[in-house]
Amino acid sequence: MREDHQDAVQRVDAARLWKRHMDMAQIGAIPGNGVNRAAFSAEDIRARHLLVSWARARNFSVSMDTIGNLFVRRPGLESDAPPVMSGSHMDSQPRGGRFDGMYGVLAALEALEAIDEAGVKTRRSIELVAWSNEEGGRFAPCTMGSAVYTGARSLDEIISVTDNEGIVLKDALAQTLAALPDARARAFNAPAAAYVEAHIEQGPLLEMQGKTVGVVTGIQGLRWFNIEVSGKTDHAGTTPLALRKDAFRAAVDIINALRELTHDPADVLRFTVGRVLVTPNSPNSVASHVLFSVDIRHPDVATIRGLGEAVEPLARKAAGVCEVKVTPTLHDDPCVFDTDVVNTIEQAANTLAVPNMRLPSGASHDANYMARVCPTGMIFVPCEKGVSHNEAENAKPEDLAAGARVLTATLLDLANR
Ligand code: HGY
Ligand code: MN
Ligand code: MN
Repeated sequence: MREDHQDAVQRVDAARLWKRHMDMAQIGAIPGNGVNRAAFSAEDIRARHLLVSWARARNFSVSMDTIGNLFVRRPGLESDAPPVMSGSHMDSQPRGGRFDGMYGVLAALEALEAIDEAGVKTRRSIELVAWSNEEGGRFAPCTMGSAVYTGARSLDEIISVTDNEGIVLKDALAQTLAALPDARARAFNAPAAAYVEAHIEQGPLLEMQGKTVGVVTGIQGLRWFNIEVSGKTDHAGTTPLALRKDAFRAAVDIINALRELTHDPADVLRFTVGRVLVTPNSPNSVASHVLFSVDIRHPDVATIRGLGEAVEPLARKAAGVCEVKVTPTLHDDPCVFDTDVVNTIEQAANTLAVPNMRLPSGASHDANYMARVCPTGMIFVPCEKGVSHNEAENAKPEDLAAGARVLTATLLDLANR
C-alpha cells in the first residue's frame, strides 16, 4: 500500500468515530440505548445539521438533491471525473439502534477526515452520501432516497405517501429541504466510479466466526406488499357469525395462509407482518377495515418472484366474505456486488491484517440500488449477538474503527484508478 495511503489509514481515529456515534445517538434517544429518528422528522433534521457542521469544519462541500439525499465532497485532482461514493442512512426504525445506517455515514466521514489529515491527493473526488428514508418505517417503502436517486422510482410516485398520522411525505420533505437552505443543489444519478457502503452486519455470523470485517457478496431479494381487507363494522355482542364481515378475522386467515405459503424447513425464507392497522379499533365493534404489511425475503430470484406472484391470489381466496386489495410496494431481486470492488475490499482487509470473511446480506441496503448504476460493494462489521432493529443493538469501538480503516484503504484504491 502507498505510504500516504498507509498514513491516512492510520489516522482513522477510533475515539472520534465512537464519540460521533454517541453524539448522534443523543438525537432521538429512547430508553435502552436506542434511537427513534424517523425519516424527514425533526430528529432527522437535527442529525443532518450535526453531520453538516462536522463536514463544514473540514471545509468539505455540502449538496442535497430534491429528495433530501445529503452529499459531502472532498475534491480530487480531476474534479469532473466521476467520484467514488460511500455512505448509508441516518434515519432509524421506531425502536432502532445507534449503529444501523449511522455507522456507514460516520465511517465514510472518518475516512474523508483521515484522508484529509494525511493530505492525500486522490485522482477522483470522494463523496459521502446520507440517503433519505432508507428504513421506510414512517413513509413506506424502504430505500426510498436511493431508489429515487438512481431512477428506480420517481419522486411523483412516492411524494403523496402518508405516515400513520396522515402527514404527507411532500410536506415533511419540504421542511427537511428547507432546513439546509445553503446546501448546493444536486442532480439525481450523477455518474459514479464506485460506491462502497459500510454497515453493521445485523446478523450473528461475523461474531460467531470471530471475524472483524465482512466482505459482502450481495443482498437477498425482497418483496413488500400492503394488504387491505374491507368488511363491515357491527356490534360485537349482537351480530351473529353468519351476518358478519369481520375484516380482522379475514386478515388472520390471510396471514395464516401466507405463513403456510412461506413455510421453509431450511429457515432461509423470511416472512414478516410488522404493521397492522385496524378500524374502528374498538374492543366491542367488529373490524370493518384492516391494513397490514407483508415483507418476504429470499436469496433465490425464482423463489422470491414466485412467492410474490402467489400473494394476491392466495389473499383473495383466504378473504372469505370480505373484500381484499393487494398493493405491491417493493420488489427488489437479489443483487450481486461487483467482483472487482469485492476483491478490492478483501485485499484491503488482508493488507491491513483484519480478519475477514465473505458473506451475503440478509438485510437490504441503499447499495441495492447503487449496484444498478455503478460498481458497488459493502463492508460489514459485527454487532452484538447480531441484534438490530432493536434498542439493544451494539457494536465495539475497535470493530467500527477496523471497518473504517478497511473502508479508507478501499476508497483510496478506487479513487486513484
Ligand atoms: O429492511 C431492511 O432490510 C433494512 O434494514 N432497511
Ligand atoms: Mn440500515
Ligand atoms: Mn435498518
